[in-house]
Amino acid sequence: MEIENFRAATVGLGERSYHILAGEGLLARLGEAANRYVPDATGCVVVTSPDLDQLYGDTALRSLRRLNPARVLLPEGETAKTWGWAGRLVSSLIDHRLDRKGVVVALGGGSVGDVAGFAAAIYLRGVRVIQVPTTLLSQVDSSIGGKTAVNHSLGKNVIGAFHQPSLVVCDTSLLKTLPKGEIRSGLAEVVKYGVINDANLFATVEEKADRLLSADAAELEAVVARCAAIKAGYVELDERDTSGVRATLNYGHTVGHAIETLNRGRIRHGEGVAIGMVSASRVSVEYGLLHVGELERQANLLGKLGLPTRVPTAASSRLIKIMHRDKKAESGTIRLVLPTGIGVPPVTRAVPDAVIERSLEA
Ligand SMILES: NC(=O)c1ccc[n+]([C@@H]2O[C@H](COP(=O)([O-])OP(=O)(O)OC[C@H]3O[C@@H](n4cnc5c(N)ncnc54)[C@H](O)[C@@H]3O)[C@@H](O)[C@H]2O)c1
Ligand SMILES: [Zn+2]
Repeated sequence: MEIENFRAATVGLGERSYHILAGEGLLARLGEAANRYVPDATGCVVVTSPDLDQLYGDTALRSLRRLNPARVLLPEGETAKTWGWAGRLVSSLIDHRLDRKGVVVALGGGSVGDVAGFAAAIYLRGVRVIQVPTTLLSQVDSSIGGKTAVNHSLGKNVIGAFHQPSLVVCDTSLLKTLPKGEIRSGLAEVVKYGVINDANLFATVEEKADRLLSADAAELEAVVARCAAIKAGYVELDERDTSGVRATLNYGHTVGHAIETLNRGRIRHGEGVAIGMVSASRVSVEYGLLHVGELERQANLLGKLGLPTRVPTAASSRLIKIMHRDKKAESGTIRLVLPTGIGVPPVTRAVPDAVIERSLEA
């Protein structure tokens, strides 16, 4: 199949526009994709982590050989998202003499993608980056949209830049080696897109839950392609997350982040989001914005995917405190993205603490 036929979506941002490719076996065709979509690249540095390098590094480098690729390793997962590692990565780019026409290739999940994207944003005031996401979360979400960041000891993603990639290549067969928990966690984001944007996508996940959970590459291809197109649409409308449109992608995330903070390291992002979506839906039902049946449909699907739908311990007042701390710059009330149906744009409302507390304890 021609490489063009893997095009799942385009993010239309004028001169910063780029394509998202999705399909099985694309890693071995990375070089071909780069030749086609970043034709003037003169060299590249592949940024990944040791485990991923073992699994996929050689395939990526072999495919990119025309670009004389160098390999740079970051630590596994979130531990790579520091100012220190971003600095070391920039040093490596200098060592490898990557010039203005060179490309950074981020081969990994959202963590590698965020650090490598950030280094590419600041090195020589910006060189191009090709995102090659290897987790479901990064294929449907973090690799698209140009948000790059590292963490500060006082907060997550505090140091960052907007820097759109020049190409995103999602090989769904890489998801076979991903731990099941990471697949579940990514599927929470897929359900999120279904609720806020696409009833057919929601129904597809309901119908194909088992095959998606078993990382069936062909089923995942269709889902990843659809999610990429949805995310691309929000990024086009609100590239810098200022108008409120892109912010509706935070459905389930205000409560979800608080749960992640409270259970540091013991709960996955998608698990927090799953609980957050059910909680926000309860608020919607209380406000008469959502039918109770549409709340139940979400809770049933999340349960079927093996995701939690209720707060692990009675911790609602602590969660509310965390939500206030996270939002301290804004007015005193917590704002939530509230669903109004399945596949229907949600609304954003200021919600009193007592209402959120009830939704957490239900
Ligand atoms: N930039 C954005 O718009 C955006 C959006 C959402 C999340 N994020 C960020 O993404 C990060 C989370 O990313 P993530 O969920 O992709 O996790 P991750 O990148 O931290 O990876 C999780 C683990 O999975 C392993 N792994 C990755 N791919 C694998 C594969 N194919 N097979 C086997 N193991 C594999 C990694 O080595 C790591 O140990 C967070 O830091 C979050 O802030 C960014
Ligand atoms: Zn998320």
